[in-house]
Formats: sequence, structure tokens, C-alpha cells
Amino acid sequence: MKRPVAYIAGTGRAVPSNVMSNFDFAAIGIETTDEWIVERTGIKQRHIAKTESVTDLASTASRAAMQKAGVQPGELDIIVVATASPDRLLPSAAVDLQAAIGASRAAAFDVGAACSGFIYGSTVAEAMISIGNADTALIVGVERLSSITDWTDRSTCVLFGDGAGAAVLKRAKQHRGILSTFVRSDGSLGDLLCRPGGGGARPFSSEVLNDRSQFIKMNGREVFKNAVRSMSDAATRALDAAKLTSADIDLMIPHQANIRIIEATAKHANIPMSKVYVNVDRFGNTSAASIPIALDEAIEQGQLGEGSTVLLVAFGAGFTWGSMIVRL
Ligand code: UT7
Repeated sequence: MKRPVAYIAGTGRAVPSNVMSNFDFAAIGIETTDEWIVERTGIKQRHIAKTESVTDLASTASRAAMQKAGVQPGELDIIVVATASPDRLLPSAAVDLQAAIGASRAAAFDVGAACSGFIYGSTVAEAMISIGNADTALIVGVERLSSITDWTDRSTCVLFGDGAGAAVLKRAKQHRGILSTFVRSDGSLGDLLCRPGGGGARPFSSEVLNDRSQFIKMNGREVFKNAVRSMSDAATRALDAAKLTSADIDLMIPHQANIRIIEATAKHANIPMSKVYVNVDRFGNTSAASIPIALDEAIEQGQLGEGSTVLLVAFGAGFTWGSMIVRL
């Protein structure tokens, strides 16, 4: 097994204070039921931002991660933010976060990989540490999906939530850290989960607003099938690359999109559900934030500790997918 280049020195998370349960959809005129949502997705509630911005959530999660890592903002060499719902389209969410936390020395940039963003971001940061461009990196997955959700579309609005998760990566000194990463994409399937309007091809106009194409559109069934196939493959690839088997994994943290996708992925990866972290019931799908939020919770709850081996696996719009094995 290769000697790790970078290890996770601290994690943090933040979610908006406002909680929306499945029963709250009736009040906004959505024809759905708690039973349908729980049965099809496993989601019972989600946190929806009222006042918190992406920068607010990212800052809170980052400060917690830095505190646990014993790292000051001025020590950060790079800040990588994974988000599909930044506060503004230019400049990046990462530079807004940099300003908010006062990380004056860092090079800050976003990665666009939707729900797989935390794994993509960590992969890029690990590579930059490996070539000597950085010793200390902050990776943040953060979303305010509620601002790009069509609240009249019951097939999507029940799924998403807001939040942020962060991790500080430091140059590895011992045999702990990222043991393997795997990332892939298939842009030919991009239309199955996208925001068609509001970008360069269809800039904001009354037409875009009328057909609500600035919001997320999704073909749920196709996304579901691809998510199961790709996450299952990714889990195996990361294990093979790290020369480990499923028996070596203490906990799998899959992207929290849907309990049925999580269960199918665990089955394919030959990992019992007792070793799979699930919080989709409390947070819904928070896209890039889902894995780092779950990682921080699992560490806080003592399900993971120093020396534990964790398998992270994600899938999202693009399509993008990926996996990572970390020895904490
Ligand atoms: O982060 C990665 C991105 N996202 C995902 O991973 C999501 C992947 N997809 C899914 O999780 C599932 O496809 C959904 C949960 C989105 C939908 O579940 P499904 O079992 O694939 O349902 P469906 O889309 O095939 O819809 C079944 C029925 C439809 O009614 P008809 O046409 O059979 O009469 C829908 O209109 O369920 C209806 N429906 C709803 N009913 C009550 C759709 N949304 C709702 C709803 N409440 N919220």
C-alpha cells in the first residue's frame, strides 16, 4: 500500500436552524405525503436556510474543522469549495469563504462536480499537496439547494436540503490518510440532471423565468439507475486501488441521496448496513455537503476514530461519481 500523501486533521459541519418536515409540504401546496417520501427516499426532514448564506454555512463548518485540526486560517495554502449553489456566480464561493475566515495566504477556487464535489475536491487537494504546492488544505462541500429548487415540482422539491461540511487536509507524516481515490464522469448524460436556464447558453430572461428553467430538472428514474451502478463500481475501484477488501472497512459513508440507492450500493459493495452511515432521514440530499456532514457526525458519535478506515462514495449531476478510502 502506498504511503498516504495527506490526512484528514479535522472536520466540521453546519446546517441552517430551520427544519422542514415532510408534513410541511402541504402548507406550500405540494401534493405529497410523508408516507410517499419516506418509502421512496428515506427522507423525513431537511434543513432549509432562511437567513444563512452559502458563505455563512461554509464559514461555520470551516472554523469547526480548523479548530479540531489545530490550524489557523493564515496557515491554509489552498481552499477548495465544492458547490452547485454559490451565493453569486462570480467570483467563486471559495474566495468569498477565504475573505470570511481571513485565510489571506490561500489560493481559493471552486470545483464543479455536483454531489461528488467533496471527493473531487479532496482528490485535487491531495494532488496539490503531493506535488509540493500545499501543506495544508481546506475542502468544503456546501449547498443552499433550496435557492435553486423548483418549489412547485414535487418530484424534486421533497429531496433536497441545505448545509455544509468541511475537512482540513494536512501533509501526512504517518501511515494514516487518503489511501486511494477514484473519480469519473460521463457528460453525455448531463441533461438528466441539470439547470438548463440562467447560464451562458440561455441567460436569464422572462422566458427562462416563465418556464422555471433556472431551477434543477431531474429524470429521477434514470438518475437512480445510474447512481446505483456507478456508486457500486466506484466502491469496488477504491477498495482495489487501496488493496483492501470490504472486510477492512469500518464504515462506508455514501452520498445521502436516497436510502434505496444507499442500500443497493452497500449490497453491491458487500458491506452490511450496520457499517453504513445514514443521515438522509434528517438532512435530505445536501449534494456536495452530504459526505463531509456525515463524516463529521460519524467522528463526533465515535463511530470513527483515529486508525479507522472509511470508504466514501458519491454520485451526482454530470454525471460525476467517485470514491475515496481514508485511514483516519
Ligand atoms: O444526488 C444525486 C441526485 N439525485 C438522486 O440521486 C435522486 C435519484 N432518484 C430518486 O431518488 C427517485 O427516482 C425519486 C425519489 C426521485 C422518485 O422515486 P421513483 O420511485 O423513481 O418515482 P417516479 O419518479 O417513478 O414516480 C412515481 C410516481 C409518479 O406518479 P405516476 O406517474 O406513477 O402516477 C410521480 O408523479 O410518484 C409520483 N411522485 C410523487 N408522489 C407523491 C413523484 N414525486 C412525488 C411526491 N409525492 N413528492
